[in-house]
Amino acid sequence: MLYSKQVLDHFQNPRNQGKISNPDATSQVGNPVCGDIMKIYLKIDKKLNKIKDIKFETLGCGAAIACSSVVTQEAKGKTLENALKIDKSIILKKLGGLPPQKVHCSMLSIEALHKAINDYLKKTNDKKSRKSNRKN
Ligand code: FES
Repeated sequence: MLYSKQVLDHFQNPRNQGKISNPDATSQVGNPVCGDIMKIYLKIDKKLNKIKDIKFETLGCGAAIACSSVVTQEAKGKTLENALKIDKSIILKKLGGLPPQKVHCSMLSIEALHKAINDYLKKTNDKKSRKSNRKN
């Protein structure tokens, strides 16, 4: 199996790897077949609705680590709406492709990102509806 230069670079020097203390949202996803697990932490700029900071922890293959690194790089600084538009094809392009049996690693990283954003949106909507219930 041959990895591209970009995959090796992100695997060997992952960007945004680690934790955020006091995150505004988190997610954890796993693939039951390969057993890989990814966690995403988000800090949100609440006024601008943008991703201020994002970090990941991935227990898994080299491609999963490279995909997590790229997905966090892509999402950082984006609005939540635009970050939800990041898809597998963007990750694959940035990585110069992945072997067919590793394409699911990119899907796992997208799933982790989207789940964390949805977690944040759900929390903020719950808060808003609690507030409006109080007013009524
Ligand atoms: Fe499953 Fe990479 S082999 S996420």
